[in-house]
Amino acid sequence: MTLPMNRRQLLQTMAASSAASLTGGVFATNSDPDGAFSRSFEPFNGPLSTVPGRGFTGTLETVDVALKGKIPPGLRGTLYRNGPARFKLGTTRYDHWFDGDGMVQSFHFAGGKVSHRGVLLRTPKLVEEEVAGRFLYSAFGTALPNSLPVRNPDSLNVANINLMALRGGRELYALWEGGSALQLDPQTLAVQDFKTWSPETKGASFSAHPRTSPDGTVWNFGYAAHSGKLIIYEIDVSGTLKRQALIEAPQADMVHDFAITPNYLVFLLMPLVLKPQAPQVGRLDRYEWQADAPLIAMVVSKADFSVKRFELDNGGVFHLGNAWEEKGLIRLAYARYTQFLPHLQGLTLPTPKVAVDQLARWTQVEINLQQGSARQSDRDLLGVEFPRFDTRFTGERTDFTVLMQNAHARVRGNYGADTVLGLTGEKVQRFTYGADWIAEEHLYVPRPGSANTAHTPSGWVIGTALHRVSGKTTLSVFEAQGLANGPVVQLALPYGLPLGLHGQFVAT
Ligand SMILES: [Fe+2]
Repeated sequence: MTLPMNRRQLLQTMAASSAASLTGGVFATNSDPDGAFSRSFEPFNGPLSTVPGRGFTGTLETVDVALKGKIPPGLRGTLYRNGPARFKLGTTRYDHWFDGDGMVQSFHFAGGKVSHRGVLLRTPKLVEEEVAGRFLYSAFGTALPNSLPVRNPDSLNVANINLMALRGGRELYALWEGGSALQLDPQTLAVQDFKTWSPETKGASFSAHPRTSPDGTVWNFGYAAHSGKLIIYEIDVSGTLKRQALIEAPQADMVHDFAITPNYLVFLLMPLVLKPQAPQVGRLDRYEWQADAPLIAMVVSKADFSVKRFELDNGGVFHLGNAWEEKGLIRLAYARYTQFLPHLQGLTLPTPKVAVDQLARWTQVEINLQQGSARQSDRDLLGVEFPRFDTRFTGERTDFTVLMQNAHARVRGNYGADTVLGLTGEKVQRFTYGADWIAEEHLYVPRPGSANTAHTPSGWVIGTALHRVSGKTTLSVFEAQGLANGPVVQLALPYGLPLGLHGQFVAT
């Protein structure tokens, strides 16, 4: 059912709920007087001790990055990446990977050379806390003593998950999921302002995973725990909000990603409930997994926002791959967790915990709209995350998917991916960086003008990886068809970057 979009109602159900549920409690101690925390910072020690290290001004810059190999002539544009970067301020610290202040990286490819720039985002939260000399607000996974009351969700907005480029890259936004998109200067990465799409949705949740259909329309959603609703945003190719809606959604206490097809929006809603009354613990510790409840596939009509729901076996999800319609079916794939909450709770900084049964499996879903049924099947690919595909064909059939895999967790117990996979149907290409590396999300960058070919990707796979031993970051470029042969070009930064989440390539 679509509800009328009334500002007061929306703020009551979405923004207020979001802010209240983001505030933490009063018990955890966050000082680190003897440095024990810093010493136990493996494996995040490299990036986090480097940024911000001594003398760090908020910006990293290398004009001409050292490279091995030759940049393919068609690879022109900018890879932007975002992620949590700062976890310590004064005597305060955040404990969970998702809590840190956002830092955006740009790798600009032009004339056979690459320049890098990394900027810690000067959000209102960061500016306020720098003045105070300490973190002032509890975060998703950390309850700070004496956390200040939250005025609105954007007073906590660290803009640290993903990026969205509009109008061919002339507009760039850093995305969080608890509040507004934050507009940046695409060249300098300087913070401009929070984006207001409409008076009704000012300050409301705008997710970090918008999807753009081939005609340039951007679809996104927002959620807030306890509201039982999702906001839907439809933004046209000029960057103007075209439609907004508030729809009824069960199990929408944490919704990170979704998928689109030509006619539908598809959500996978987890049986994860945020307990409303537990003021002494942080937000993450208030989540409860409903082991007997299904994962709900919710299909929303783009035409009238009507909703159909389908039940799948219990499971959790951060990320979906592409989805498309085929003979009355909706097909999609996602990284499915059977132990979602322990996995999420394990992403703590001193000692991220890895248990093999907490890793995700690549899982295919088939929704039969006529019969009103849905089913899913796991593929034998364990420890996968960060699915990427040819985003020129979002919502249409694409056969090539890039995934990151923690292939050796069973052996090493290490957090983080060490392998990049290229899936073409049942065929899997693999490149393993090795035990000394943490590989971050890799993207598929299509060769300019190439078609949506079914089985032969034409383009590159590009991504960053942190070398644990030297503490430095590299960026690798692979030919998509020859992924297993290893990178054709590798860039070596003179510093390490904090482990990030997502990136986008804006071609020029
Ligand atoms: Fe994500």
